Amino acid sequence: MTDLTESPTVAFPQSRGCPYHPPAAYDSLREERPLARVRLYDGRPVWMVTGHALARTLLADPRLSTDPQRPGFPATSERVARIRRRRTALLGVDDPEHRVQRRMMIPGFTLKRATALRPRIQRIVDERIDAMIAQGPPAELVGAFALPVPSMVICALLGVPYDDHEFFEGQSRRLLRGPTADDSMDARARMEAYFEELIDSKERQDTPGDGVLDELVHRQLRDGDLDREGVIALAVILLVAGHETTANMISLGTFTLLRHPARLAELRADPALLPAAVEELMRMLSIADGLVRVAAEDMEVAGETIRAGDGVLFSTSVINRDEAVYPEPDTLDWHRPARHHLAFGFGIHQCLGQNLARAEMEIALRTLFARLPHLRLAVPAEDIPFKPGDTIQGMLELPVTW
Ligand code: HEM
Repeated sequence: MTDLTESPTVAFPQSRGCPYHPPAAYDSLREERPLARVRLYDGRPVWMVTGHALARTLLADPRLSTDPQRPGFPATSERVARIRRRRTALLGVDDPEHRVQRRMMIPGFTLKRATALRPRIQRIVDERIDAMIAQGPPAELVGAFALPVPSMVICALLGVPYDDHEFFEGQSRRLLRGPTADDSMDARARMEAYFEELIDSKERQDTPGDGVLDELVHRQLRDGDLDREGVIALAVILLVAGHETTANMISLGTFTLLRHPARLAELRADPALLPAAVEELMRMLSIADGLVRVAAEDMEVAGETIRAGDGVLFSTSVINRDEAVYPEPDTLDWHRPARHHLAFGFGIHQCLGQNLARAEMEIALRTLFARLPHLRLAVPAEDIPFKPGDTIQGMLELPVTW
């Protein structure tokens, strides 16, 4: 039995009306802090955490599980329901198994490693802008810049040949927002087959390359710390999480800056504000909206009883607009301390790639606006398509000129 008996009125997720604001229908969730209820696509009621302090507490609470094989694990769409039935490394496992996987990955994702990658990221960004300038204006910024930059960076970091980018970008797209669940499952199977072959070829190399996957193959796989299936599962999540998310932040971040010319002028006048601006954009855009957990046991939370098997969701766009922490939350403000936003999650599953993502966003946005000082939208903002609510938020296309 659950306490979620009454059918909640707010459906989750919903598509945004403006790509940098939560859907208007979430307004009532903002009033119902710190814990509300929502209805999923299949009509199922689940808890929705809406308060910032409670979100931090609960995301660090081991009684909430990310294991999709646990009874009652909720899904935000039919596609996600089917995909998550398969084993997902890191994000889909609880401690102690999670701790073992995460420890293996940490050396590849430290701040030091991200800092060491900065010159390479800068080179990649400069080359993409050179290519845009050579061909344009105008340009479609998602395809010409926002997607290839993180894609090239994650390839370099993992040791995946960028020549295969059309293949894996296409499969990621189908995995994250294919037209049907079958399509997404097929994309995942193809991605796994791709990594199976790549891992075979890495195993045959006498001298390992310097990518994170080379390290996994030559150390963990050989030492027996990981099996092949484990390496493949890690490779899939790293590649998918490593390029789509950051690409969305670059495209939507650019769009948001172009729609806030006074804030953009402030950044141009004082580029030292950029790291703070990246945090504020992360807070405001909250592109990964709707983190999903299931309660592994009964728990008393904010005067309510969450029962074992209840679904518990976290709307980052609502949490990151908690007025108790962020006064005037719908306003972009580079001077507020935004760093404690939950757009990278919190607790043991907090984003592994956040150092890398921050470096990429900073370099991409700084360089783009410095080298193209007259950058502007090439068509009316209202005509530019963005992603639907049931996936990571971002622009589908971004036609620009300069
Ligand atoms: C701006 C871009 C990014 C955003 C907004 C983002 C967001 C997130 C969020 C919210 C989570 C936690 C999910 C949850 O708790 O349910 C997460 C986890 C994760 N992210 Fe990111 N991410 C970004 C970039 C990256 C990059 C570049 C990588 C590189 C490989 C990456 C790899 C991962 C991995 C592996 C996890 C799972 C960690 C674990 O379970 O221990 N992400 N990310």
